[in-house]
Amino acid sequence: MATILITGGTGYIGSHAAIQLFEQGRFNVVSIDNQLRSSIKALDRIEAISGRRMTNYSIDACDLHAVEEVFEAHPDIVGVIHFAALKAVGESVEHPLFYYRNNLESLVNMLACCEKYHVANFIFSSSCTVYGDIAVEELPVTEKTITTEAASPYGATKLMGERIIQDFIVSTDKVKAIALRYFNPVGAHESGLNGEEPIGRPNNLVPYITMTASGLLEQLTVFGGDYNTRDGSALRDYIHVTDIADAHLLALDYLMEGRNTAPYERFNLGSGNGVTVLEAIAAFEKASGVKLNYRVGDRRPGDVEQIYSDSSLAKEKLGWETKYDINDMMASAWKWQLELNKTKEKQQS
Ligand SMILES: NC(=O)c1ccc[n+]([C@@H]2O[C@H](COP(=O)([O-])OP(=O)(O)OC[C@H]3O[C@@H](n4cnc5c(N)ncnc54)[C@H](O)[C@@H]3O)[C@@H](O)[C@H]2O)c1
Repeated sequence: MATILITGGTGYIGSHAAIQLFEQGRFNVVSIDNQLRSSIKALDRIEAISGRRMTNYSIDACDLHAVEEVFEAHPDIVGVIHFAALKAVGESVEHPLFYYRNNLESLVNMLACCEKYHVANFIFSSSCTVYGDIAVEELPVTEKTITTEAASPYGATKLMGERIIQDFIVSTDKVKAIALRYFNPVGAHESGLNGEEPIGRPNNLVPYITMTASGLLEQLTVFGGDYNTRDGSALRDYIHVTDIADAHLLALDYLMEGRNTAPYERFNLGSGNGVTVLEAIAAFEKASGVKLNYRVGDRRPGDVEQIYSDSSLAKEKLGWETKYDINDMMASAWKWQLELNKTKEKQQS
């Protein structure tokens, strides 16, 4: 059986992709993840859901020699999905060199190994941050929307990452690539057995909501109530993590079956629906039956007012269809939070 190498396989999105790859049953899956931002317990969760144990190499993807050893140990690798990266915008402003080194060096290493070890299919986790602060008239964003100067070092690593791939692909006929620009991945596996497990204080809205609802955090602050949106709160395009993971399997098929129309393509992955922060909170309260303790505070510097996608290109070319809406996203995230709480209680008793 051919192997897919994923980096960041014990992380939030990587672990969901691993489950789906195993469930599809066509590939063996191995991972490179040094647990910089995840727990090795993800391997147990993947196994509990899919029935398959993923081999994970706990090495730094920036260590070229160690990465080469993984490729040498698995000569049957036919595709690489590169999820591994640091992703906290605020932290990237505080520690830009840490972000540039980690996110760019790991990418360069993976590309170099694809070329060296004749792995023809490469998928990169990009982000809607490449579009920067978009004027309302330009919404929804398509892949033709001009990418602007990144608002943070994190965003710059995605923009630069896409550029690195582009220059690399021009220089080689050995590798084809796809960059998937995720909008706001949220939610958890429908079993409630796998989901996002932030280390420390969460940076994203949904874990913040579920942790506040559990009493692990005191109160949620909604940043900004005076934006020019339906209810004054910022508007985003939330997309279920399972839908995101699905797109990777389709993108792999697309490349492996030679249906790609260029050696390097980029696709938006969003639901196409804008949901405000207050609407997301209402959906959570409805799904969980829990009243959330929140307050509306000042705008947060660096936040864009609204962004949502036109993802019709991924639908048309990859055959990608989203299956879940905001209610499913919130219900699954809550189920997962309750599972996490149960595990913590057991550990404490
Ligand atoms: N979750 C989001 O909101 C979101 C949005 C857009 C894009 N993305 C991108 O998707 C990818 C996956 O994100 P996620 O939400 O699963 O994040 P995550 O932090 O849960 O997973 C990333 C994983 O990569 C690992 N990692 C980081 N640097 C590494 C290195 N040098 N060597 C080995 N392992 C390393 C971490 O330990 C972690 O397990 C990232 O590239 C991220 O930038 C995420």
